[in-house]
Amino acid sequence: EKGGFEHFMLKEISEQPRSIADCMRGRLDAKGGRLVLGGLRDYMNKFQNADRIIITACGTSWHAGLVAEYLFEEFARVPVEVEYASEFRYRNPVINSKDFVIAISQSGETADTLAAIELAKEKGATIFGVCNVVGSSIARATHAGSYTHAGPEIGVASTKAFTAQISVLSMMALMLGYQRGTLPESTYMQLLSELESIPAKVEKALKLNNQIEKIAAQYKDASNFLYLGRGYNFPVALEGALKLKEISYIHAEGYPAAEMKHGPIALIDEEMPVVFIATQDSSYEKVVSNIQEVKARKGKIIAVVTEGDQTVKKMADHVIEIPMAHEAFVPLISVVPLQQLSYHIAVMRGCNVDQPRNLAKSVTVE
Ligand code: M6R
Repeated sequence: EKGGFEHFMLKEISEQPRSIADCMRGRLDAKGGRLVLGGLRDYMNKFQNADRIIITACGTSWHAGLVAEYLFEEFARVPVEVEYASEFRYRNPVINSKDFVIAISQSGETADTLAAIELAKEKGATIFGVCNVVGSSIARATHAGSYTHAGPEIGVASTKAFTAQISVLSMMALMLGYQRGTLPESTYMQLLSELESIPAKVEKALKLNNQIEKIAAQYKDASNFLYLGRGYNFPVALEGALKLKEISYIHAEGYPAAEMKHGPIALIDEEMPVVFIATQDSSYEKVVSNIQEVKARKGKIIAVVTEGDQTVKKMADHVIEIPMAHEAFVPLISVVPLQQLSYHIAVMRGCNVDQPRNLAKSVTVE
């Protein structure tokens, strides 16, 4: 049932071109300029007129929510708050009927996320679910929702569910921007085809697997890792670090690259591998200077860059070149090598990658 793969996690990483395409199938038609999310139809008015979008989730799904914050604010100019469900539910948060709450959950069974939904519902907000498991508790507790259609995810480390969540949220942000008039028609059309081109680019990125395995062999005995990115790649840095710690038990932290000099830079020495996501986007120049700062302190640099990059190549110990894409959709591609890196390191350390210690696939207790 692992389809010839040694572990479910690798199978699920490798399925991403298909799972992202499945998620967009019947919903996105770039040529026809059509974007339809059945679940949103009855709630489009609420969505469009919301004063604020609140996103609530846990773990990897919370990281997908952070990517969505950038998407919604950029395309639709709506204020967004991204909340850990466990904090949100106990904080007596200010919520009202003009809030549109998006709850993200692969399993649809996460106790804290479910409780956050119930709370927001009581306060009169509209609740929209982005779940993978059909008929799950969260899918049933929400007013409406869109499934991610990633197919069953067995590995405890979430991979294809994450990229499917971002795919749904990207479609939602594009729809909202178009409806609210913040995205001009021509930009909207262009973004539709940019999004449609992602599965083929993920397919290409997956081919880096052997290169990444070699990098993994060099760093498998590290005791710490730092992951740094900015803009759309900041949540990817958090996700890369989470993947590594949960399956390889190596301590890893993700940070916005610029926050480094407010503390974490003190950790950097020749023993510290630092993974930079440094693709060619609006924060590229800034990330390049952050790379220089790490280099000056002899940190080992593993950089995920855009194909053909020349600048970072001269500074980094390893470069992983991924296909060029619109910056808003880069997380769908840039996360893939980080998933593979954590996978290979964990296998080399003899860890049980599909069922890491102390973790359950769905966290049904708070
Ligand atoms: O099923 P959910 O998306 O609600 O689960 C949320 C987290 O428990 C989950 O993403 C967890 O962080 C994963 N093990 C990460 O790989």
